[in-house]
Amino acid sequence: MAMTRLLWLLYTSLVLSALSLNCHCSEIKKVHVVYMGERPQEDVSVASMHHAMLKNAMGSASSAKESLIYSYGRSFNGFAAKLTNDEVAKVSEMEGVISVIPNHKLKLHTTRSWDFMGFGTGNDGNLQEGDVIVGVIDTGIWPESDSFSDKDMSPPPAKWKGACQGANFTCNNKIIGARFYNSENYYDNTEFKSPRDSIGHGTHTASTAAGREVPGANYLGLADGIARGGVPNARIAVYKVCWDSGCALADILAAFDDAIADGVDIISVSLGSDWPYDYFEDPIAIGSFHAMKYGILTSNSAGNSGPFAVTVSNFAPWTLTVAASTIDRKFVSQAVLGNGQIFSGLSINNFDLNGTSYPLIWGGDAANYTVGADPESSRYCIPGAMSSDEVQGKIVFCETLWDGSGILLANGVGTVMAYSSITDFAFNYPLPATVISTEDGLKVLDYIRSTDNPIATILVGETPKDVMAPVVVSFSSRGPNPMSPDILKPDVTAPGVDILAAWSPVSPPSVYYADTRSVNYNIISGTSMSCPHASGAAAYVKAAHPDWSPAAIKSALMTTAYVMDSRKQVDLEFAYGSGHINPSAAVNPGLVFDASEADYIDFLCKTGYNTTTLRLVTGDNSTCTNTLLGRGWDLNYPSFSLYVKDGEQIMGVFNRTVTNVGEPNSTYVSSVYIPTTFSVTVEPSVLSFSAVGEKKSFTVKITGPKISQQPIMSGAITWKYGVHVVRTPLVVYNYIPGAPYNLDDGSTYSMINNKKATFRGSSIYHKNGIIGYN
Ligand SMILES: *[C@@H]1O[C@H](CO)[C@@H](O)[C@H](O)[C@H]1NC(C)=O
Ligand SMILES: *[C@@H]1O[C@H](CO)[C@@H](O)[C@H](O)[C@H]1NC(C)=O
Ligand SMILES: *[C@@H]1O[C@H](CO)[C@@H](O)[C@H](O)[C@H]1NC(C)=O
Ligand SMILES: *[C@@H]1O[C@H](CO)[C@@H](O)[C@H](O)[C@H]1NC(C)=O
Ligand SMILES: *[C@@H]1O[C@H](CO)[C@@H](O)[C@H](O)[C@H]1NC(C)=O
Ligand SMILES: *[C@@H]1O[C@H](CO)[C@@H](O)[C@H](O)[C@H]1NC(C)=O
Ligand SMILES: *[C@@H]1O[C@H](CO)[C@@H](O)[C@H](O)[C@H]1NC(C)=O
Repeated sequence: MAMTRLLWLLYTSLVLSALSLNCHCSEIKKVHVVYMGERPQEDVSVASMHHAMLKNAMGSASSAKESLIYSYGRSFNGFAAKLTNDEVAKVSEMEGVISVIPNHKLKLHTTRSWDFMGFGTGNDGNLQEGDVIVGVIDTGIWPESDSFSDKDMSPPPAKWKGACQGANFTCNNKIIGARFYNSENYYDNTEFKSPRDSIGHGTHTASTAAGREVPGANYLGLADGIARGGVPNARIAVYKVCWDSGCALADILAAFDDAIADGVDIISVSLGSDWPYDYFEDPIAIGSFHAMKYGILTSNSAGNSGPFAVTVSNFAPWTLTVAASTIDRKFVSQAVLGNGQIFSGLSINNFDLNGTSYPLIWGGDAANYTVGADPESSRYCIPGAMSSDEVQGKIVFCETLWDGSGILLANGVGTVMAYSSITDFAFNYPLPATVISTEDGLKVLDYIRSTDNPIATILVGETPKDVMAPVVVSFSSRGPNPMSPDILKPDVTAPGVDILAAWSPVSPPSVYYADTRSVNYNIISGTSMSCPHASGAAAYVKAAHPDWSPAAIKSALMTTAYVMDSRKQVDLEFAYGSGHINPSAAVNPGLVFDASEADYIDFLCKTGYNTTTLRLVTGDNSTCTNTLLGRGWDLNYPSFSLYVKDGEQIMGVFNRTVTNVGEPNSTYVSSVYIPTTFSVTVEPSVLSFSAVGEKKSFTVKITGPKISQQPIMSGAITWKYGVHVVRTPLVVYNYIPGAPYNLDDGSTYSMINNKKATFRGSSIYHKNGIIGYN
């Protein structure tokens, strides 16, 4: 990873310098988003306002008209337009402008999974489910999938104001709205110019959040069962912003602008930036802030850049940030050698060789010398390096993980790959394949070298129980929070490993992009998959409590989460936040930590934003009364994070207020579970309520000795009354192993100064992405 990041840095700086040598960059128009905060309350046409600003910057009405791409004004104020560097400079200076952000691309970051978390079918406590609308911002959807049947569903709720766009695409009472966005016309000819999904990702996430119950769903015979989303009777509204080349910032903002005004209740976003941006330069942070103002919770993926520290994306305090963990089902496939040795490997292998053995060779012995390949490349079975004379009809042992195409294209029967870096999730391949450890790989190589006619077979995949689950998967991005170190992120974890859900039948079913087989359900991994589980759970809570704020829903999911086993991962809460979502418990949390827009504004104010900026964002007369930079300790957050500067004492005071949403007369008693290295007092330690909706405050004081080079230490504060257990984790740290940035830089603790350096990491699944993450 470190190496990859380094190469990537080198690469981007080379590309940038090459560009600057041969272009008159100041004259090139590039798409930018001009973000202007809250939409004007007065009855003005925002479009003409935007046009006037552009005309002002460009000096011509016709070029202004030509360059305008989107006017946002349904839910917030701003526009997307093609601007030169000079025009960017002019517009940045104009009144009302908060940020001017170059358009860039963000990346896309079951059956069993809901049962695994004790959330069975027939949760009919939720009669209001049909009133809840989940907005999914993704690659679109395959509307004909059984997961989106509207059988027995009533017409959309009256509040719905959305639309169904695009040719060859029809909405129904399940998919009640669908829009698509493409600011720079980067279609390729395999993509549908409609909300129809050619990639599969959006179909997968939408069906995970809110798909119908579909019996007999499976991936080519594997993992058969009932596929279903968290809220099978809720509605889906689709906002397609991601295409083969990625998801553009201008389009993401257009989708938020519409989704909020259309009347969705929960927004699910399984994509993100690879680098931490300032809150008001990040489209998901901006969009979700305005969504929050309208009572809509945004659930977003933590990212797939783990297990490295400070890699979490989508960390704004007003969103729910979701890590990915395993469920109790593994996908394995065994390789059986002619000498009787059996090696178990990770693979979603639907192919059945019926026990027939085939000649087994080493990739290094199958180089296609006529194209200049040699054993140094063919040992890894790279596509194009293999000689079909050697490979045809055989199983090939390869020394790394690849998508299988090298062997497939050379007419091989199957492949046994050796790779030890990924041990906690599986991929699917276009031919019989399994991935064993490098240690076992050496034994296979020994067998090949010591036997005259080595043979092997690969058994059809199995799905044994994973007794370790849930464990946060290696690729799930880790905290701490790069922008606000005293807000714990991620918030929760949810199933994101080997998840079966609906798929687009025109998208390849395996990691090989040219795999032409067609499936209606597929098994993939990512925080993209865990996010819609949390979105579905949030929709379930929203259905039970239509009047709850986004913060209350989020609090309910966090304080009722299953406690993760701390012995299974060193980075503790930086991997799993408050724990694993438990939707059944979340509808009855007892107490919630509520927060309103004013609380988030106060938080922003204390962490370095000024009155000018905040007034634009809020559209009101907000003032930052607290001019001293604080730490945001008093944002009413359902967890505690204390970043201590190196060599300083542990010291933090956090105020919190809980709202009673349980029994009217109730008395909650706190208990503190922490390591001996520091101390925590909760004052008062007992909270008595006599009414629903009553609020009570308490103060948490964390003290301890000077610490240095101290990675995460954690404990929890728990409030108990009757069946209610309201748990809030608490972390203290000042050292982040391998952190790419220094958290001690400057007053706001933010990474703002570094942010334009480069992009980092990658997403684990993309149609054109080869296996794995970089
Ligand atoms: C229209 O939709 C069908 C699915 O019903 C799809 O297979 C086909 O490719 C689409 N045609 C076009 C022109 O988009
Ligand atoms: C295995 O057997 C099934 C059922 O008889 C058959 O359809 C399939 O083609 C066989 N597979 C191979 C690789 O021979
Ligand atoms: C070697 O590669 C070339 C170019 O792809 C291909 O045409 C040829 O068939 C390959 N040779 C064998 C024996 O696979
Ligand atoms: C407020 O912050 C913005 C953005 O950092 C800055 O451009 C502006 O000058 C600041 N205004 C005041 C009054 O400090
Ligand atoms: C802000 O304050 C000014 C002056 O007191 C007032 O005229 C204006 O209506 C206020 N704006 C909002 C949005 O409250
Ligand atoms: C926190 O609560 C204490 C006790 O109620 C209060 O004195 C203090 O001012 C509060 N701190 C902040 C920053 O609100
Ligand atoms: C709560 O307690 C108060 C006084 O102890 C009592 O008057 C009231 O009836 C109780 N309310 C409920 C709903 O039990």
